[in-house]
Amino acid sequence: MTTKANPVEGSAVYPLGSRVNERGHLEVGGCDVVELAAEFGTPAYVYAEDDMRARARAYKEAFAARTDDFEILFASKAAPFTAAYRLFAEEGLSVDVASGGELHMALRAGFAPERVYMHGNNKTDAELRYAVEAGIGHIIVDSFDEIRRLDAMLDRPQDVLIRVTPGIKADTHSYIQTGQLDSKFGFGLEDGLAARAVEEVRATRNLRLVGLHAHIGSQIFELEPYVRAIEALATLADDEIELLNVGGGLGIAYTAEDEPPAIETYVDVKVNGVRRVFDRVPRILIEPGRSLVGNACVTLYTVGTIKEIPGVRTYVAVDGGMSDNLRPMLYGARYEALIANRANQPADTLVTVAGMHCESSDMIVRDAHVAAPRVGDVLVTPATGAYGYAMASNYNGVPRPPVIFAKDGDARVVVRRETWDDLLARDVE
Ligand code: LLP
Repeated sequence: MTTKANPVEGSAVYPLGSRVNERGHLEVGGCDVVELAAEFGTPAYVYAEDDMRARARAYKEAFAARTDDFEILFASKAAPFTAAYRLFAEEGLSVDVASGGELHMALRAGFAPERVYMHGNNKTDAELRYAVEAGIGHIIVDSFDEIRRLDAMLDRPQDVLIRVTPGIKADTHSYIQTGQLDSKFGFGLEDGLAARAVEEVRATRNLRLVGLHAHIGSQIFELEPYVRAIEALATLADDEIELLNVGGGLGIAYTAEDEPPAIETYVDVKVNGVRRVFDRVPRILIEPGRSLVGNACVTLYTVGTIKEIPGVRTYVAVDGGMSDNLRPMLYGARYEALIANRANQPADTLVTVAGMHCESSDMIVRDAHVAAPRVGDVLVTPATGAYGYAMASNYNGVPRPPVIFAKDGDARVVVRRETWDDLLARDVE
């Protein structure tokens, strides 16, 4: 049981630089989150801008210490909003988009088209046409059908990578494994489809095969499968393969018990893996999402009701839930909770943090140790920066929360809160 008076400082779960201030309040990006809750309302996603920049720099520095031929792509599905695209563009990263919508946001945010890599196991003609007309740098082709459709709509060369499913099972939740043969993504190695895709691309008029791609899954702590994925890709590669994209996937700490590998270790394994296996070392690409943004953010909620069922459990209900964080319901993901306005008090009360939705599965943290909660408290869940906003919904007519960037004690809204009228904005009378 966690009774540590200060679970924030030195924690790998909270944004870098987080602390408990003199008032006993959680501070993120130099801002007192209790004040942020009063100013911007709850629920709200609060990101420490410096945390995201530090992670991007950690990736860059880890690579630069080992090779000068690399490219880091922000896997924007983890946090697809303009301010995040802009921040990572400023940090010199490229971007991975998974749809026409993400492509649109990335370009509007200022990413140069040549820095865009487009994924998707079922890109529509409209999405491919958008990519082609915008002149994006690389398209990762995922099916034979797409190879033909894309070639037919081009009248100039287009650089492509082939998405390979290397037949590697990563040790993570089955919903976020992607590298095994039985996958809807890409071309399998074992069944010979990847080799056939190489031939088909090379036989097209307009597609120029420049690279291979494999992504084996997400929230990964065990790095060895990456080495096997690299070995698998090498069996397909020849002198014309200039780029090797070995995906994202590095896991993060959601709770104090999680001990993910460091960014540097992850980069080391990939660079060394490629060096060991390839005679002519291609440019190494990675596309992290979660590990760039996940720990940068905390979600602020307000405690609305407390229901104690004697001898059973105490439900602490907050003003959000599965509409702003679907991960506990979808993957059984575990989070921590903290009463941010008494962050210096012992976490001696066992509660279940419930959302406000009409579903019994709407539990944000099943067994949380917090300071004895009171109605009106600001309750925080850390490590919500990846796939929280991204998978948010309007379930039960709940407007989606704003995104706040905090830096050096200043806070700014980068995505405004939805209004009740927004909920009607697309309805046709
Ligand atoms: N590249 C590709 C092709 C991907 O499919 C993904 C994630 C990434 C990169 C980024 O992976 P990351 O570094 O974030 O692990 N909604 C799930 C995660 C789904 C990830 C899907 N693909 C979750 O909330 O855990």
